[in-house]
Amino acid sequence: MPFPPPPGWWIGILLLLLLSPPALAGATTDESCLSGLWRSLVDPNGSLRNWTKANFAAPCNGFTSYLTGVTCNSGRVYKLALSGLSLGGSISPFVANCSNLQSLDLSSNQIAGGIPPEISALLNLAVLNLSANRLAGTIPPQLALCAYLNVIDLHANLLCGRIPDQLGFLARLSSFDVSYNRLEGPIPVLLANRSGVEAALPRFNASSFIGNPNLYGYPLPPTRERGLSVLSIVGIGFGSGLFSLALSFTAVCIWLRVTERAAMMAADEGKISHLMPEY
Ligand SMILES: *[C@@H]1O[C@H](CO)[C@@H](O)[C@H](O)[C@H]1NC(C)=O
Ligand SMILES: *[C@@H]1O[C@H](CO)[C@@H](O)[C@H](O)[C@H]1NC(C)=O
Ligand SMILES: *[C@@H]1O[C@H](CO)[C@@H](O)[C@H](O)[C@H]1NC(C)=O
Ligand SMILES: *[C@@H]1O[C@H](CO)[C@@H](O)[C@H](O)[C@H]1NC(C)=O
Ligand SMILES: *[C@@H]1O[C@H](CO)[C@@H](O)[C@H](O)[C@H]1NC(C)=O
Ligand SMILES: *[C@@H]1O[C@H](CO)[C@@H](O)[C@H](O)[C@H]1NC(C)=O
Repeated sequence: MPFPPPPGWWIGILLLLLLSPPALAGATTDESCLSGLWRSLVDPNGSLRNWTKANFAAPCNGFTSYLTGVTCNSGRVYKLALSGLSLGGSISPFVANCSNLQSLDLSSNQIAGGIPPEISALLNLAVLNLSANRLAGTIPPQLALCAYLNVIDLHANLLCGRIPDQLGFLARLSSFDVSYNRLEGPIPVLLANRSGVEAALPRFNASSFIGNPNLYGYPLPPTRERGLSVLSIVGIGFGSGLFSLALSFTAVCIWLRVTERAAMMAADEGKISHLMPEY
């Protein structure tokens, strides 16, 4: 017969759960984030020399960090700034384990691959700057879950597909740049126009969207027949086809008329045999 645990046992477990320091749990997730990123990035110049296993385990000392580009706040990774370090590779989805991250700046490198949708787990993220890399794929709509995003800078990459409409709901967004990519389709109205009574005023101007050949709509200038080009080519082809058909029909009519008249005239003159085919 199993021995029932005394009531105090449950209280003990509860207390243990409540009192376990969250910083410790935080440090393990930061460790998994940093080591994951270290594995996915390629560092040809040795810019991340002090990104070592020992430092991943305890990346922070209060507000300072032992790792290049890492800033801490109360023992947790708070900022990652690895701009212009000639880094290659890709962005690990493990970056989402830096759960206190407020700023992720990997701009001006040669990072390829996609933007991991797992970034949406970074609920405190305010700044996302992945500009001037070789990032491909689509912009994950899940980014809209990072409600504190102030800055999204993805300019000068190889991103394709549409700009997710959901990004328009990011109320705090004050800087948005997706220029010089391969994005296509309409610009979401909530990114182009302000809301409410100011709806006629631009939210982000054309400079946020230029350099994407197949992106269209306000605030970009009206397309130079780009969206209509296929249609107009078909139209011109169809129109000219109809025109030449009408022209040849008219020509045949005229010809028939002329020959008919000639035949009649010939018949009148009794020289019909001249025009008739010989069998
Ligand atoms: C880590 O390396 C960078 C240069 O690569 C250096 O500026 C920084 O001081 C180093 N940090 C520590 C804690 O050694
Ligand atoms: C990395 O090395 C390359 C070639 O050696 C050099 O052109 C580039 O400026 C370096 N990048 C950094 C950030 O030091
Ligand atoms: C870290 O992130 C990965 C990928 O998102 C996930 O599978 C893993 O459970 C996370 N680990 C920790 C310790 O949070
Ligand atoms: C993103 O980083 C680049 C430098 O790599 C910088 O020029 C740009 O201003 C940054 N974007 C924002 C919105 O701060
Ligand atoms: C957005 O603003 C432009 C320019 O003022 C205007 O032409 C357009 O109708 C607006 N769109 C919406 C949906 O309010
Ligand atoms: C577009 O907006 C940016 C700031 O978001 C500003 O610096 C720039 O001058 C604006 N450009 C135009 C043409 O209005």
